[in-house]
Amino acid sequence: MAQVILKNVSKRFASGVKAVNNVSLGVENKEFMVLVGPSGCGKSTTLRMIAGLEKTSAGDIYIGGKLVNDMPAKDRDIAMVFQNYALYPHMTAFENMAFGLQLRRYPKGEIIRRVNEAAEVLGIRHILGRRSRELSGGERQRVAVGRAIVRKPSVFLFDEPLSNLDAKLRVQMRTEIHKLHIRLQTTIIYVTHDQTEAMTMGDRIAVMKDGVLQQIDDPIAIYDRPRNKFVAGFIGSPPMNFMDGVIIRKEGRIYFDEGKIRVKIVEDMHNRIASYVGRQVSFGIRSEDIYDKLFVSEAPPENTVTVNCEVFEPMGSEVYLYLNTGRHTFIARVGAHDRPQVNQDIELVFDMSKAHFFDKDSEEAIV
Ligand SMILES: Nc1ncnc2c1ncn2[C@@H]1O[C@H](COP(=O)(O)OP(=O)(O)OP(=O)(O)O)[C@@H](O)[C@H]1O
Ligand SMILES: [Mg+2]
Repeated sequence: MAQVILKNVSKRFASGVKAVNNVSLGVENKEFMVLVGPSGCGKSTTLRMIAGLEKTSAGDIYIGGKLVNDMPAKDRDIAMVFQNYALYPHMTAFENMAFGLQLRRYPKGEIIRRVNEAAEVLGIRHILGRRSRELSGGERQRVAVGRAIVRKPSVFLFDEPLSNLDAKLRVQMRTEIHKLHIRLQTTIIYVTHDQTEAMTMGDRIAVMKDGVLQQIDDPIAIYDRPRNKFVAGFIGSPPMNFMDGVIIRKEGRIYFDEGKIRVKIVEDMHNRIASYVGRQVSFGIRSEDIYDKLFVSEAPPENTVTVNCEVFEPMGSEVYLYLNTGRHTFIARVGAHDRPQVNQDIELVFDMSKAHFFDKDSEEAIV
């Protein structure tokens, strides 16, 4: 069990690509840390540097308090599960899991004990005798995880381990890995580009973009208080709605004016938004913070807008409304039984206590 610390770590490849730029990150002992971000943002490179498969160009990496910059991968006491976790097809599940331990010359009894123990945890005892080509995708995935578990490393690194699985199996394995973490109580750093995986699995999430760490926090804090527009738009599904507009002051009140719609900004936010009066900003609101006025008692008129409902999608447990102000399109998630008229005006209420505002230039959160 171990802490992992990255201090100002960068990676510049010989090609000149700066894949990772001055990343500082502390992963606590036993913590499940998720590194998330779009393709090419430097997640795998970061993980590979922690594993020792890639040299850092700058900065320091500590595992369990030890500086490991120059320590070979095999001495780092970590195990990595890759996206393409190629198992040896001619070997059985047991042999695949035992292979690494045999290379390390573990005694036979110890190998058998560890493989059986891991198989028990993963619920794959019954397939240990099968060759890997005779296994389903999910079973192969478990064997690949088992291969890492038998090593009893102090840190697990997972690089998009579920991306080869179909949607249903992915959700199932997501829960399995979550349970595994609770059971093994080991530090895990888990890479994914899937924000749902990040939200549901991580004790904390580190969001990356273009090699730069954007925000590290627990999932709900990231969701409720994204530090910038990128994080706000990346975490959450459907993504946060954004509209550009201007902040105006009228009779002591402050409003966001989109051009077609106008909403009043709650007083709690006045301090931080006041310096933006007369300036352009990006307004953000999540789809669940917009309500159909029909279902709101005492809707405040200054938060009520009239827009066109272009389409609605019944999802079963809720309905997505696709709306258009004339300048911006956005989505509202409303009750399962809401059936608005398509291509008609609809009145909606914005919960402005949940509004976000971002600076147009820096894209940093103002509120
Ligand atoms: N060996 C390499 N040589 C040169 N450039 C590389 C190398 N490996 C990665 N890169 C570049 O570094 C950047 C980060 O790559 P990385 O694989 O870390 O991204 P990622 O976040 O894991 O993306 P994905 O979600 O697609 O796996 C990319 O621009 C990539 O093209
Ligand atoms: Mg990757």
